[in-house]
Amino acid sequence: MENPRETHMQNRKGRRLILFPVPLQGHINPLLQLANILYTRGFSITIIHTQFNPPNHINYPHFTFHSIPDGLLETEASTADVIAFHTLLNVSCVAPFRDCLAKSLADVSKEPVACLITDAIWHFTRAVAEALEIRRLVLRTSSVSSFLAFAALPFLPEKGYLPIQESRLEEPVQELPPLKVKDLPVIDTRNAEDLYQLLSRMVKETKASSGLILNSFEDLEQFEMARCRQEFRIPIFPVGPFNKYFPASSSSLLAQDQSSISWLNSQASKSVIYVSFGSVAAINEAEFLEIAWGLADSKQPFLWVVRPGLVRGSEWLEPLPNGFLENLDGRCHIVKWAPQEKVLAHPATGGFWTHSGWNSTLESICEGVPMICLPCFGDQMVNARYVSHVWRVGVHLERKLERGEIERAIRRLMVESDGKETRKRIMHLKEKVDNCFRKGGSSYRALENLISYISSF
Ligand code: UDX
Repeated sequence: MENPRETHMQNRKGRRLILFPVPLQGHINPLLQLANILYTRGFSITIIHTQFNPPNHINYPHFTFHSIPDGLLETEASTADVIAFHTLLNVSCVAPFRDCLAKSLADVSKEPVACLITDAIWHFTRAVAEALEIRRLVLRTSSVSSFLAFAALPFLPEKGYLPIQESRLEEPVQELPPLKVKDLPVIDTRNAEDLYQLLSRMVKETKASSGLILNSFEDLEQFEMARCRQEFRIPIFPVGPFNKYFPASSSSLLAQDQSSISWLNSQASKSVIYVSFGSVAAINEAEFLEIAWGLADSKQPFLWVVRPGLVRGSEWLEPLPNGFLENLDGRCHIVKWAPQEKVLAHPATGGFWTHSGWNSTLESICEGVPMICLPCFGDQMVNARYVSHVWRVGVHLERKLERGEIERAIRRLMVESDGKETRKRIMHLKEKVDNCFRKGGSSYRALENLISYISSF
């Protein structure tokens, strides 16, 4: 891993890139990792960001930052309905983004701009970039398989798969193997039409871009990558996993509780199950209690991230019964936010119970930690199916969220022979990741191609 701040001035290319992240943790992390990758390859970096969830400038003294007013009212600055949130931002950011970009392009005190790189969700930026005559590349932060599923979603109502019917949950989706109807990356929103509109625009404006950068690697999603190349006839650069170049910790929006590591230091090798459901997913109190009892009954030590806001209607741990923690006798450690990558890399961590967000999935693969998947919405459904049934590096909690099922899943992964096989498979996948970064490996080549492509503008 390189330290971007140590890249010497004489290595600068005299070209600048402008990047624009979607202001959610799972999107900010990969975009800023990509910015660091490109900085170490000689480009100067300007980040345009919304006022909502700004990245921590202090961790990036080598970047220039511009904050734009996002126009969000206090009641709108929430991820409770992410589709409504993205839909709104794609309208309210148009004028401030255009003004900021125009100013940056005209700034002669800085290096000339080679191109703009935006998250695929910012579909409005295609028209802005075109009007200002600047090339635009797109970063899609999810897996390729879920991107293809999102691209297909607007066409699935006419095929009868959507809205999802209880009686068809187990049916395969012919157009998207190996997904079943219940794996479709649907996201609840007040108006389903908003979801289809957002996805259609995301896909259309990605197809109209100068290139697509992916946080994935060829060996992981070979078949999907080939389909993506057929569907998106633009240059495609699968340079991931980005976390192999730079950790996500410097763009963490919440303080990472380092007591996680000192607690792990006191635990036996591969004994701990790490539990975290990312930055957006929310559960209800009954689900929270089933999870708590399932963990307790498993008898394994656990490190649990209970993010404030994870349990709807609760501040933090109030729903836990009196004496619950005391009775565990030090077998558990609960934090509000953890240094996740360090936790996954720790020798005491033996399994990861995750919501199957894409960053979490990649981070787990890179450290060779097998997973228990509890997808909550959107791309997480697709990721969980691939983890459990394609790569077979985890257990899918597909049935009712119930303490007995949870206890069995944890024991299966952490104690039983089944778990040993799963661990072997993820270690094999970890090796594939390491290989794709070696000279001549697929991500190595994709990055070289991306650098020469951008340099040619
Ligand atoms: C969201 C979506 O939910 C996810 O499905 C999509 O793929 C990206 O956007 P999020 O839910 O936050 O992201 O999940 P994920 O993609 O896994 O990203 C979480 C990031 O936060 C990871 O980089 C992880 O390392 C970090 N994290 C998580 C911490 O630093 N500390 C924690 O305690 C938990």
